Amino acid sequence: MQILVTAGPTREHLDPVRFLSNRSTGKMGFAIAQAAAERGHAVTLIAGPVTLPTPPGVTRVDVVSALDMLDAVQRHLPQHDALVMCAAVADWRPARASANKLKKSDMQPVLMLEPNPDILKTVRPLKGARLFVGFAAETGDPLAEAQRKLADKGLDLIIANDVTQPDAGFAVDTNRVTLISATEPPAGLPLMSKLDVGRAILSWLERHVRA
Ligand code: PMT
Repeated sequence: MQILVTAGPTREHLDPVRFLSNRSTGKMGFAIAQAAAERGHAVTLIAGPVTLPTPPGVTRVDVVSALDMLDAVQRHLPQHDALVMCAAVADWRPARASANKLKKSDMQPVLMLEPNPDILKTVRPLKGARLFVGFAAETGDPLAEAQRKLADKGLDLIIANDVTQPDAGFAVDTNRVTLISATEPPAGLPLMSKLDVGRAILSWLERHVRA
């Protein structure tokens, strides 16, 4: 398979030194890319700003903002059989970005934002026979919210990620997830390394790829 993976946060710049972002380090997405390359798949990894080395055999495309990531996904998706959107994409960006560092005296205490496009929904018309996998990072009821996003975003599989646990979610090497598809009962996995979570997702993709 040719697998397109996104990883890490996006940064939404207000000026060259200030930005909105989130706690994603890219570890989960890089682990998926590594698991896929280890199993002989061709992998393109679209990475937000992270400090991780590229896994061996993986082609990496670095991006900064959600709009950059959307552009990269749109360019690379046609050459791939599956898309795994593990990136924590910022839903909002500053309505105005300055090319120069803003002076404190020029800034307002209220920041005007505008919505970023939903990448999965934007590329949905290109889906065809491709498998689309999303993640749902949740602090409330992970399974219910993941089920909602599975249907809302037209996904084949969503990985429900309870990010309230200290050993799961952002910035750690382990994760505790549930695989939810439209056609099978939810499969809860025990605490495991992010690489093993990546391997479980790869096994699902290999079972469901459409020839
Ligand atoms: O990087 P780590 O430190 O290892 O942390 C891993 C992780 C917690 C970031 C990862 O496991 C995870 O849960 N990633 C998805 C986080 C997220 O932003 O979820 P969401 O519920 O906001 O988005 C749902 C899905 O829509 C995701 O697949 C997301 O990539 C996608 N999305 C979101 C917003 C947007 N504008 N476009 C999108 O396509």
